[in-house]
Amino acid sequence: MEPMTDPRLAVIVLAAGQGTRMKSSRAKVLHPLAGVPLIGHVLATAQELSAAHVIVVVRHEREAVATAILELMPEAIVVDQDATPGTGRAVELGVAALPSGFDGEIVVVSGDVPLLDAATLSGLIVAHRASASAATVLSAIVDDATGYGRIVRDVSGALLRIAEQKDATAEELTILEINSGTYVFAASSLRSQLPRIGSDNAQGEKYLTDMIGVLQAAGLAVDAVPAPAAWMVEGVNDRVQLAVTAARLNAMIVRGWQLAGVTVQDPATTWIDIRSSLAEDVELLPGTHIAGATSVARGARIGPQTTLVDCEVGENATISRSDATLAVIGAGASVGPFAFLRPGTELAEDGKIGTFVETKNAKIGAGSKVPHLSYIGDTTVGEGSNIGAGTITANYDGVNKHKTVVGSHVRTGSHNVFVAPVRIGDGAYSGAGTVIRKDIPAGALAINVAPQRNSLGWVAEHRAGTAAADAAGRAGDEGTD
Ligand code: UD1
Ligand code: CA
Repeated sequence: MEPMTDPRLAVIVLAAGQGTRMKSSRAKVLHPLAGVPLIGHVLATAQELSAAHVIVVVRHEREAVATAILELMPEAIVVDQDATPGTGRAVELGVAALPSGFDGEIVVVSGDVPLLDAATLSGLIVAHRASASAATVLSAIVDDATGYGRIVRDVSGALLRIAEQKDATAEELTILEINSGTYVFAASSLRSQLPRIGSDNAQGEKYLTDMIGVLQAAGLAVDAVPAPAAWMVEGVNDRVQLAVTAARLNAMIVRGWQLAGVTVQDPATTWIDIRSSLAEDVELLPGTHIAGATSVARGARIGPQTTLVDCEVGENATISRSDATLAVIGAGASVGPFAFLRPGTELAEDGKIGTFVETKNAKIGAGSKVPHLSYIGDTTVGEGSNIGAGTITANYDGVNKHKTVVGSHVRTGSHNVFVAPVRIGDGAYSGAGTVIRKDIPAGALAINVAPQRNSLGWVAEHRAGTAAADAAGRAGDEGTD
């Protein structure tokens, strides 16, 4: 069922800024956090508010940002900021994109403040509506206010205005209540007073923060309400803040899964992306990253030192010291240590992909095993088969990729090469070192290695005086050829 939308609520997300402090060719709001672009977290919160309109203002890296926004939230309206800089200008253009008849509350949030949750925002909206203010600012009390706009109140505590870091007086700079960059405005007041904002300030920008002073001076009620905790409104402006925010969010995600029944041996080195899901009695060992939209079923044991990206892991599977992307690992299957599962790997129940094995586009049937030192690509293996140690599928002829099809209950020898396209029938065997260039019929044994020739006494003749020759001499074995 579609959630009811609130026809009197609009959200404007500010995402046009350059993000200079990130020193990145990628737009700031597209830097990933818990496997989702920064702005994705803000859009998810906006979605939870069930606003009738969600507007996102963009400019820097416009194409990439707009594409990501519409992928994350197709119903969002993307608005382009023009050459006039500043958060005030961004909101002005956002407001202009709302239906002219829109009357209600406009929530303004920053695309670079990802940890603010919908419950806190809903509380702000409720407080705003109850007070009939023209604007309610979400503030925060912090230990270090550097860089933030300061909340300036009069002696009675009433909000007067917001002073930006670069414009504040020495006295204002000592204020520890800061502007979170999150606001609720009455649409009518915002529309009528926005044109009064100028750009006569240290940065030559139209500051949205000036709206508070403008509304206050116009005799309209304004208020600032501190957030329950300062970390909720921390902005990501540089890579240090990105890492701090990522660690904080991860700690919350890990804790959530622990309380949901997941054993996490070392929360500090375990990373779980926000779109991943874990069942009860999953066990995560140190150094594990559950990334993307990975799902892990009950009883599975993952790690140590394992990364799973967009994988599906079945019940009671075990994966150790491995790296997998877009792979399906069946119930009771075992992977690693030191396996590399590339996209299209499907390991059925009770199967095994063992040590130093790389797979790609490989469907390995129930109970089948690729235990050691192999590359298996563009391959299907039936059930109950065993692929010998050191097997390579030669799937690429330099131009095209070809398939290898292995039947059920096959036993191939160590150090085989399957030169694709090739088929190995059910129940077939191959000898050690076989280069399989043509199909093996069901039940056949394939051997194509040249017979071994022993040149007796070769070491004594050609390597006289070496330790090998001495050892051979002591053995006194004439041998047979
Ligand atoms: C802003 C506030 C500051 C507050 C802080 C909280 C202003 C003038 N200052 O400062 O009071 O303490 O946020 O994090 O608002 N943006 C646009 N268009 C622009 C400029 C910015 O859309 O022309 C967007 C940015 O992409 C960003 C948000 O607005 O998502 C805030 O911009 P940023 O430059 O990070 O402002 P701060 O200096 O952090
Ligand atoms: Ca910011």
